[in-house]
This record gives sequence, structure tokens and C-alpha cells, in this order.
Amino acid sequence: MTKLGMGVVGVGAMGTRHAENIRRLIPEAHLIAVADADLARARQVAAELEIEHAYNSVEALVERKDIQAVAIVTPAKFHGAAIKACAHAGKEIFCEKPLTLTVEEADEVLHVTSKAGVRLQPGHVRRYDPAHVRAKKRIEAGEIGDPVLFKSLGRDPSPPPVSYMASGVNGMFFQDSGVHEFDLGRWFMNDEVAELHAYGGVLVFPEAAQFNDIDTALVNMKFSRGTLGAVENYMQAVYGYDIRTEIVGSKGTIMLGYLQQTPELVLTASGTRTDVVDHFLVRFADGYLDEMRDFVRTILADGELKVDGFDGRQAVAVAAAAERSYREGRPVAIPPAARPAKA
Ligand SMILES: NC(=O)c1ccc[n+]([C@@H]2O[C@H](COP(=O)([O-])OP(=O)(O)OC[C@H]3O[C@@H](n4cnc5c(N)ncnc54)[C@H](O)[C@@H]3O)[C@@H](O)[C@H]2O)c1
Repeated sequence: MTKLGMGVVGVGAMGTRHAENIRRLIPEAHLIAVADADLARARQVAAELEIEHAYNSVEALVERKDIQAVAIVTPAKFHGAAIKACAHAGKEIFCEKPLTLTVEEADEVLHVTSKAGVRLQPGHVRRYDPAHVRAKKRIEAGEIGDPVLFKSLGRDPSPPPVSYMASGVNGMFFQDSGVHEFDLGRWFMNDEVAELHAYGGVLVFPEAAQFNDIDTALVNMKFSRGTLGAVENYMQAVYGYDIRTEIVGSKGTIMLGYLQQTPELVLTASGTRTDVVDHFLVRFADGYLDEMRDFVRTILADGELKVDGFDGRQAVAVAAAAERSYREGRPVAIPPAARPAKA
């Protein structure tokens, strides 16, 4: 079997999961090296995964000729530079969300990857979550008629450590969290967001204010064909990791999301208890594996990615518009953009 030689750049929480999946659960891929700005971390993950090569930069990793594809899982601020380094070295690219922090940089990486003739898949994991995949198929089959309303919420159990915001490398809440919902809206409604009005607040995590960020957001959206959307992001659900989406159509509705992780219910005199999904690595375990497997298989088959750089760019554009709308306190229109012709 021809295996895809791969490297992972940035092996924190998310990158380690991708590296584990590539190393242990995707037989068509061969994890050759990991890299992290923190070399000790790269070495530790390489040792845990029993692979030989660890580097302290994307530039060092892409020098390897036996690596054909790279998963970029650094904080968002470094995505653009890493994508460019991989493209210049002729590597196929998977890059975690958000593709970049600005639309300008997204356009630049689209240009660079297209010129280099390499593929670029953003890590929009919801598109690979089994329930979301089924919902998309039902919509396409016309089961709920024409979609008219998209509603989605993403609630984290608790705010990130202050250092996460202080670092300034992860983007604002709209880029870091909202981007999942924005991509999902485009995908389910099969349309682009044309206009939105975003509200935000620092309501539960006062530390957010000093970094010019927010902990709560509501975004009302209008798609280009006139259908509507509403997105909520909240940092402090307390009870767990809560992801829910509803697509309302002319002939029915699909509701996605669940709180209870395992089918166990404990009933005692003091009440009824269930467990609750508590982490994205738990909720989207299947999605992370399926998206990386699909990336690997598509590259090996020289096929067309299901989700590509333009999708990443469009989600970034919605996040940027949401930030602008929030800061300027008014609705913001999003200029239409055409999907670039395939190279
Ligand atoms: N799809 C999802 O559901 C999901 C969930 C979590 C995180 N993410 C994304 O994954 C990315 C990483 O997030 P994380 O939670 O793993 O962050 P993290 O802070 O846990 O890990 C980031 C790692 O990257 C390393 N790093 C920083 N700058 C680097 C550089 N220039 N070159 C190489 N390594 C560098 C850091 O040392 C660290 O080990 C982000 O883009 C984030 O938005 C996606």
C-alpha cells in the first residue's frame, strides 16, 4: 500500500490528537515527524507516538522529502506563515481552523497554494461529525424541503486560561469559536452569508475585556438568497460542552446536538443524574478521525477535497465581518467572493 508521508506542526491539545489519529488509526498514512516551537514538547509527543523525528519549526520539517502532506495545528496567528512554508515546499496541507485571522491573509494563502499546485483543507470538523453528515444528506435529499432558517450554538464549559487570550495568537471569540458555526451555516444552507449583525459582551469573564475580547456573542445573519441564520457562542456553560444546531425547512426541521455522553441514568431519592459531554476532543472524536482520514484518502487518490481553502476563507470573512459589526455597532454586508477556478 502506498502510504502518505505526513508531518504535524504544533502538537498541543489538538495537534497531538491529529498526530495520534495519523499514527495509530489511519493505516494509509505514515506519521514521519512532528514539529513544535517548543522542541521539548515535539520530542515528548514523538516519543509517546514512537516516531523518530521531532523539529522546532515548520521550515525544518518540510525539508524532509518523505513528507508529502502536513497538518498545521499551531495557534491561528501562525497558520498563514506555516501554510506558505508548506506550499513553497510542495506539501499538501491540512490546516486547523480558523484558516487565518484576516481575509487578506486568507486570500494570500489561497493564491500561494494555488500557484504551488497544492491542496489546502481547513479543519472544519463539524462537516465530518456523523450526525452533521447525515443531516446534510437529508437536506440534500429534500427531506425538510427548502432550508429557511439556520440556528446554531457553541458553548464551552469554561473560559480558556487567561494566558490563552493574553497570548494574542488565537484570534477573537468570533474567529476562534464562531468560525465553526459560520462554516456550518454556509454548508447547511448551501449559500454565502451576505449580511450580519453581531452583538457581543463581557458578561461572565471580566478578564476578556483587557484583551479586547468578549465571552458571549449573538450573530444574526442573512444569506445571499434571503434565508436567515442565528449563531450563539458562549464561554461559560458550566455544565459541559454544548453544541447544538437546528435547520428549519419548508417541510420539516432537523435538530442536532446532545448533552448526555453515555446512556446511563442514575435515579436515586436525591434525584436523577446523567453525565454530560465535557470536551471537544470527546464530542468530536469521530469527526477529527474522519476528517483526517478523508484528507489522507483524497490526497492519495489525487481527488478533490470536500472542504477546501475557499471554504476556510469564507468562514474567516464571516468572522471578520462579525468582529467589525460588533465593534462598530451596526450591520455589516459581506462582499460576494467567487470560488477560484481549480488550478
Ligand atoms: N477543530 C476543533 O474543534 C479545534 C479544537 C481545538 C483547537 N483547534 C485549533 O487547533 C489549533 C491549535 O489549538 P490547540 O488548542 O492545540 O492549541 P495549544 O496552545 O494547545 O497548542 C498549540 C501548539 O503549537 C505550538 N506552536 C506555537 N507556535 C508555533 C509555531 N509558530 N510553530 C510550531 N509550533 C507552534 C505551541 O508550542 C503548542 O504546543 C488552533 O488553530 C485552534 O483553533 C481546533
